[in-house]
Amino acid sequence: MPPLSTSAPGVRQAAFRFRCIGCGDLSETARQDFRCSHCSDLLEIIYPQRREAGAGPQDLRDTWRQRRLSQSAVDLSGVWRFRDLLPALERDEQAITLREGNTPLYELPQCARITGVPRLFAKHQGLNPTGSFKDAGMTVAATFARLAGFRWVACASTGNTSASMAAYAARGGMRSLVLVPDGKISWSKLSQALDYGAVTCQLRTDFDGCLRLLQELVLRAPVYQLNSINPFRLEGQKTLALELMEQLEWQPPEHIIVPGGNLGNSSAIGKALLEMRDLGLISRLPKLSVIQAEGANALVRTLREAAVQAETRATAIRIGNPASWKKAVHVLDATGGACEQVTEVEIAQAKAEIGAEGIGCEPASAVTLAGLKKLVMQGFVKPEESVVLVLTGSLLKDPDFTMEFHRGDLFKDGEGKNAELNRLRRPPIVLDATLDEVMRTLEKAER
Ligand code: F0G
Repeated sequence: MPPLSTSAPGVRQAAFRFRCIGCGDLSETARQDFRCSHCSDLLEIIYPQRREAGAGPQDLRDTWRQRRLSQSAVDLSGVWRFRDLLPALERDEQAITLREGNTPLYELPQCARITGVPRLFAKHQGLNPTGSFKDAGMTVAATFARLAGFRWVACASTGNTSASMAAYAARGGMRSLVLVPDGKISWSKLSQALDYGAVTCQLRTDFDGCLRLLQELVLRAPVYQLNSINPFRLEGQKTLALELMEQLEWQPPEHIIVPGGNLGNSSAIGKALLEMRDLGLISRLPKLSVIQAEGANALVRTLREAAVQAETRATAIRIGNPASWKKAVHVLDATGGACEQVTEVEIAQAKAEIGAEGIGCEPASAVTLAGLKKLVMQGFVKPEESVVLVLTGSLLKDPDFTMEFHRGDLFKDGEGKNAELNRLRRPPIVLDATLDEVMRTLEKAER
């Protein structure tokens, strides 16, 4: 007999509706491109009856804690454990899960010293099953794809979404189609999609071109789109914030800092914070700030001026026209967060500093630490405030970047030649296999 999962006392399973973020139209169904049939704006998922359903914040917290003792698949998932705030399944077994979520919250003592912010933490979403935060959203969206009867799922991606989608499709017995920009994604991510059995197309365009094509494709073919335009993805990604608050014993930090690419994750975290406040789970909102690479700074520019041709070595966030920008602007406004940009050299330095803590992340995640330094300098983050950086992907997602950095090949002449970067570099040392040589190297390193 399969193990039973605990149900939430007094909580009716969450019935949901789609709401257009532009005209507010409410609907029970969504078109395949997940855009409003009246004004073409993005949809979000809302839960009209949740308030009347009755469970108070303490019931919810107790239920979520209780489920940690259970061995059922949905309770072992760090996403479905919070299912009371997700679209409801009729049966727990319907969930396609790889036991995603459950990611650690680390202290960062060395980065705390560097930034002058003693209470500095990292929520490491790179420790998800496929190595990035995408799994939290994918478990929900892939589950609803299968429930809707789709045989094929598809996404445009800078790599992590495709790796995650391919894995969840495979687990759920669906086929997957991946559209990635040719030459602009890391082999680690591409190889995951191949191994999980996706049909993988490297298109001669950028991410924005891939996404445009996908949006047309889903209106022509019976293919379910799993980009973060899909609001089920964002519902799953909300659980990052729920789990974080639980880890902090429901005492919100002053700041949460996330990288911004297509802006789905910042939108999801912001939505979760607002829902938690409305449900009485937290008493105040942390400021949610978004950091972008200077060469892919569409949100920074939207808030300041115009369109962008994206260019950055943090390829995960090499996006010129972020789909969820309106949702992200809303959460920045609602939480009072900031939007900043950082240079390629600042990203590389921050990545090595996080790595030197024994944690490690991919370049796109390191924008958070680089951005924090700026926000501290501007006085937006005060030394006495607590800060959580969301690390979105694993170090192993982009080994080329790391190798080039340590070998000193990452930047063209001049750029990146500063003492701070040199201090962080640890190039591999090729030696004759003698004890003398190794001893000499050890002594030199000790000096
Ligand atoms: N960090 C990593 C490691 C990512 O892979 C992405 C996005 C982001 C941050 C930005 O998140 O788009 O929600 O603002 N990667 C997408 C992909 C675009 O296709 O894997 P966002």
